[in-house]
Amino acid sequence: MSTNAVTTLIDAQRIRARVRELGEQITADYAGQQLIMAAVLHGALVFAADLMRATHLDVTLDIVMASSYDGTRSSGTVKHLIGPYNGAAGHPVLLIDDILDTGLTLARVRDRFLEKGATDVSACVLLDKPARRTQAITAKYVGFEIDDLFVVGYGLDYNGRYRNLPYIGALPAEELA
Ligand code: IMP
Ligand code: MG
Repeated sequence: MSTNAVTTLIDAQRIRARVRELGEQITADYAGQQLIMAAVLHGALVFAADLMRATHLDVTLDIVMASSYDGTRSSGTVKHLIGPYNGAAGHPVLLIDDILDTGLTLARVRDRFLEKGATDVSACVLLDKPARRTQAITAKYVGFEIDDLFVVGYGLDYNGRYRNLPYIGALPAEELA
């Protein structure tokens, strides 16, 4: 597969500008609080790394691993949900993910942090596909709302590939086996 086949939807410059804005909003909203940023890997790796550096707060980073996708389809269950969920008691948590799709992943992760005593669990996602939502969850911060199409790049993958593209792109139908 070649990255030439990927059509750019959101270029690196637009992503950079939007991440800066999100960082400023989060900085203002959580001023004076000790925020836990919880990145949902693998997809959130790139976004979380940029977002936390755009956020000027006293934050700690937590990592959660989850996967719900097989190829281009949600499997309908969240597999490999692993986290330490450390130190959440008494603190606000901001979940960071690449994309909010059915909402299954973030709903499950949110519930875990609430069980651990987080005072508030909100979410910041780079992309939102509201058309596909099956769970009662919204993100407090959304980078870009997109149509129901399969995207890759800036952390998002197709069977593990394309995460390193610096932009968000769409794969043509013939690339999707
Ligand atoms: P949800 O649990 O259905 O909301 O799925 C969320 C996860 O599915 C995201 O964190 C992504 O890892 C993956 N995912 C959903 N849509 C896409 C896409 O268009 N491209 C790549 N991964 C996606
Ligand atoms: Mg993910």
